[in-house]
Amino acid sequence: MLISEQGGYSREVLKYLDNGTGGRKIMSKSYKIAVIPGDGTGPEVIAEGVKVLNHVADKNGFSIKMDFMDFGGDRYLRTGDTITDNDIKELRNYDAIYLGAIGHPDVKPGILEKGILLRLRFELDQYINLRPVKLYPGVECPLKGKDPEHIDFVVVRENTEGLYSGAGGVLKKGTPDEIAVQESINTRKGVERCIRFAFEYCRKRNKRKKLTLCGKTNVLTFAFDLWERAFYEIAKEYPDIEADYAHVDAITMWFVKNPEWFDVIVTDNMFGDIITDLGAMIQGGMGIAAGGNINPEGVSMFEPIGGSAPKYTGKNMINPLASICAAGLMLEQVGQEKAGKAIEKAVMLVTEKHIKNLAAGKMGHSTTEIGDLVVKYIKE
Ligand code: IPM
Ligand code: MN
Repeated sequence: MLISEQGGYSREVLKYLDNGTGGRKIMSKSYKIAVIPGDGTGPEVIAEGVKVLNHVADKNGFSIKMDFMDFGGDRYLRTGDTITDNDIKELRNYDAIYLGAIGHPDVKPGILEKGILLRLRFELDQYINLRPVKLYPGVECPLKGKDPEHIDFVVVRENTEGLYSGAGGVLKKGTPDEIAVQESINTRKGVERCIRFAFEYCRKRNKRKKLTLCGKTNVLTFAFDLWERAFYEIAKEYPDIEADYAHVDAITMWFVKNPEWFDVIVTDNMFGDIITDLGAMIQGGMGIAAGGNINPEGVSMFEPIGGSAPKYTGKNMINPLASICAAGLMLEQVGQEKAGKAIEKAVMLVTEKHIKNLAAGKMGHSTTEIGDLVVKYIKE
C-alpha cells in the first residue's frame, strides 16, 4: 500500500514517514543550501565551512546541494543591486542559507548591511537571532579565573523589530534645528513569539533551566513593560524554567564578573546586538562567535557574527572557526543534530589541542590549515 493511501497526511508528513519509518523507499536525505560568501574574508571562511559540511555530510549519510550566490559589495558596485525581489523569492526555496560576511570598504556603511543582511532577516521573517556564548577548552579567556565551566550560555535576540525596524524620520536636516527620531517598535506578537522560542529553547537545552529577560524596565517604560508582562505571563506555562530579569547595563557587568549565572537570555534587537559582541569577547573573540537568524517555520540563515575584516582579506590569516560553528548550528536547525554536534566536537578538539589564540594572524595556523584540522577530527 502506498503511504498516501493511509489518508489525511500532508505531503511533508508523508515524506517524513516514507524516509523515516522504513516505508517503500529509503532515500538518503538531501538538503539545499544557498551559500552567500559575501565580502572581505567571507569567501575564505565560507570555503572552510563548506569543506567541513561536505565531510560531515558524507560521514553522517546525507547530502548537501549548495548553490553559491554573489550578493555583496562587488556585485553592488557592478550592478547597483544589493538583493532583488527575485533573489528573495529564490532563497525561499532553500532549506537554509549559509552566509560569510557583508561589508565592503568601497561601499558606504549601511547600504549593504541594510540592503542585504537586514533585508534578508526581515523578509524571511527570521525573528530569532540565536547566539551561543561558550568558552571552548584551550581558548584564552580575557576574564581572570573563568574556564569553560563558567561560560556557557545562549542569547536569544529578537531579530525583526525594535530599533532595527527603521521607524522614525528626520526634520530640518543639516540645520541647527535638525530633529532625528528613531523609534523602537515592539509588537505583542513579535515579543511573544521571541519569548516563547526562548522558553522552549531553554527547556530543550536542559542545562540550568533559567531564562533571563534582559531589558531596561526602569527607563524604557513602554517597550520593556510590554516585554516584562509578556515574559511573566508566558513563564507560567513553563514552571520548570526559572524566570529571571536583569537590566541590560547590569547584564554587561555580570557577563564580566559572573558569566556562570546565565543559561539562556532573551532580549530585544538592539540590546541583543550589543551584549552579544561582549559575549563574543568572553568566549575568545570574533574568531569563534557564530549565530543563526532563525525562522522556525521558514528559511533560516547562519553566519559568523564578526564582520568582513577587509584588512585580512586574501591573506589566509582569518579564523574560520566561527564560520565552521555557524555551519554546525545550521545542521542542527535543519534536523541533523548529530552532525551539527560532531562539528562542534571537532572544533573543541582543535581549540584544545592546536590553537590557543583565536585572533586573526595569531593562531599559529593559516585559515585553510584550521579547516583541515577540523576535517581531520570529523573523519576520526
Ligand atoms: C550583527 C551586526 C549587524 C547588526 C549589522 C552589520 C547590521 O552587527 O549581526 O550583530 O547590527 O545586527
Ligand atoms: Mn552586531
